Amino acid sequence: MIPQEIIRRKRNKQILSKEEIDSFVEGITSEDISDAQIAAMTMAMFLNGLSGKETVDLTLSMRDSGDVLKWNFDAPVVDKHSTGGVGDKVSLVLGPILAACGLYVPMISGRGLGHTGGTLDKLDSVEGYQTTPSNELFKKTVQEAGCAIIGQTQHLAPADKRIYAVRDVCATVESIPLITASILSKKLAAGLDCLVMDVKCGNGAFMENEADAANLADSIVRIANTIGTKTSALLTDMNSVLGKTVGNALEVFEAVEYLKGQDIDSRFDEVTKALCVEALLCSKVAANSKEALSKVEKVLKSGAALERFSKMVALLGGPADFVEHPKNYMSSSPVKQPVFANKEGYVSAMNTRDIGLLLVELKGSRTHPLHTIDHATGFSCFCQLGDKVDTKTPIVYVHAQNSEQAAFVARKLQEQIIIGERPAVGSAVLRRF
Ligand code: URA
Repeated sequence: MIPQEIIRRKRNKQILSKEEIDSFVEGITSEDISDAQIAAMTMAMFLNGLSGKETVDLTLSMRDSGDVLKWNFDAPVVDKHSTGGVGDKVSLVLGPILAACGLYVPMISGRGLGHTGGTLDKLDSVEGYQTTPSNELFKKTVQEAGCAIIGQTQHLAPADKRIYAVRDVCATVESIPLITASILSKKLAAGLDCLVMDVKCGNGAFMENEADAANLADSIVRIANTIGTKTSALLTDMNSVLGKTVGNALEVFEAVEYLKGQDIDSRFDEVTKALCVEALLCSKVAANSKEALSKVEKVLKSGAALERFSKMVALLGGPADFVEHPKNYMSSSPVKQPVFANKEGYVSAMNTRDIGLLLVELKGSRTHPLHTIDHATGFSCFCQLGDKVDTKTPIVYVHAQNSEQAAFVARKLQEQIIIGERPAVGSAVLRRF
């Protein structure tokens, strides 16, 4: 088929057949189709939309553009995907929790870009941990630890890699069918029985407004279930940083503390448990939410989830005693500067996206996929919405490489945490799809 004819039909608002979509995606994978043709096609799709069937066909075609993993386990294979936020370290604890509940979790994660963090960058903080292991080691880790969190390989949904890179520079990212196909092609290539989506909404999320986030959640759930992967989604709030830390090594430390039952942030706990419950219901290992929550709490309390995390780290090349001594195996910043509220009151709002961008100032996140980052910098003891604060107790600490950097970021950070007269209220989990 001639690529420009397929583009022309989409430009003219016609519905593409499965054969046309397959032919176009095959051309992308084989590199017979140019970046210019991908740009024209994705802009036509962005402007004219895709039907449900076109979205299913595009997702399947992109999924099948590379390896599709197959597992032979006697329990369901599940994963969670988040649309990204600030301080979101849920994946680090959810994988081990679900593994300890008897599920298998082959989690293919991404790196951070701009204001949102990425699970892979967090795990790269751990000395020795291989985020790009061989297929054999990945499979062995899933088999023995029940979970493995690794990066996307060259062979997993390669068409998405090319399409996404073009969309990123051609203003076609914000299209619900394109986002749906992009996310699902990668996730479904991991051979899942069930998927749980964490669609974030708020001023630190990719989708700020609840209606857009709800449309994305609805689209992903509909398309994935049509394809046959049982999927549900939670809409969760991203109008504040999630948990007490932002920054790679600092977030791994918080995740380990959480698995040990220490220093638990209530919103992080709420989101983590809600997503775990969703995964247990989706995979039918629990009959109802009460039973699912009790399983989650049991493996946290017994230390079984911590043990799974420890095993995953060791199998993937990290230290065998990482959970006992996490600070020995991650770098830390030489400067730690407290930030104080400029008046007494309650934490009533945060400019979450700007807080995420301050991590870029500390070199803890990147603005270009090829930038290297500093894993040690970030923020700890982050105040939470509703906290009562005064001007003498720190509301957050900045971890930086030098005092100039720390002072600059501390000043900016203070402006992004809004102190009001009333505590902010509201649940971290907004809706279920
Ligand atoms: N994340 C993805 O993987 N793909 C998109 O299109 C948007 C966010």
